[in-house]
Amino acid sequence: MRIDVISLFPEFIDQSTGFGVVGRARERDLLQVQGWNPRDHATGNYRRVDDRPFGGGPGMVMLIEPLRACLDAARVADPAPAPVVYLTPQGRPLTQARVRELATLPRMILLCGRYEGVDERFLVNEVDEEISIGDYVLSGGELAAAVLIDAVARLQDGVLNDAESAAQDSFEGEGGLLDCPHYTHPASHAWGEVPDVLRSGNHAAIARWRRQQSLGRTWLRRPDLLDEAGLSKADRKLLEAFRAEHAAGGKAEQP
Ligand code: ADE
Repeated sequence: MRIDVISLFPEFIDQSTGFGVVGRARERDLLQVQGWNPRDHATGNYRRVDDRPFGGGPGMVMLIEPLRACLDAARVADPAPAPVVYLTPQGRPLTQARVRELATLPRMILLCGRYEGVDERFLVNEVDEEISIGDYVLSGGELAAAVLIDAVARLQDGVLNDAESAAQDSFEGEGGLLDCPHYTHPASHAWGEVPDVLRSGNHAAIARWRRQQSLGRTWLRRPDLLDEAGLSKADRKLLEAFRAEHAAGGKAEQP
């Protein structure tokens, strides 16, 4: 997959996608990330990329023309069609389901805003989709772009090895539930014991326990996800038992 990023801070994008799983994907050419700076496409002595908003008020608004020239340059570099995605708190909240869809594209172009925003006419004419990474305001779209790049990169074929497999992640399992808790050595520690079932060697019992923990955690932390999960009868029974144990003050999970 190729991702072009239009940003006043292309070095940020380059560096923030240079580590770990995403950095490795780039090194192996499973993912290409290319930054494009509108300032390189601005004209005049001052290479202006922004101006005051019509109607007054605080902040600056990014100009149409440097963005347009920058986008054209990105399109010339690779003519394969690519949707333009604008990162903004006004966008549709990003979900793992949308990440999965975007990850199938051969290419996309991300637009990172700064200042108060981008001239609305550029958005209307050039942007295909607006995405938010949450209901809070960042100083610019770069961090949001890095989040989106990470999320789609790890779903590209060959990026994760078996040990890192995405299949068990939160949102990726059956019904899009949260992940279960994980434990490693030592089995016994001043902060508690690893649940016996995980040391039993009984794979069916372990799978059942993990499913029950996923259901219980989702119920405790993100009950909204359960509405969409399409739980089976067996799931409902597991969750019922979890809730009963929880109500009895059991050790199913501390809230
Ligand atoms: N730019 C500023 N805040 C943002 C957010 N929450 N999501 C996406 N882009 C943003």
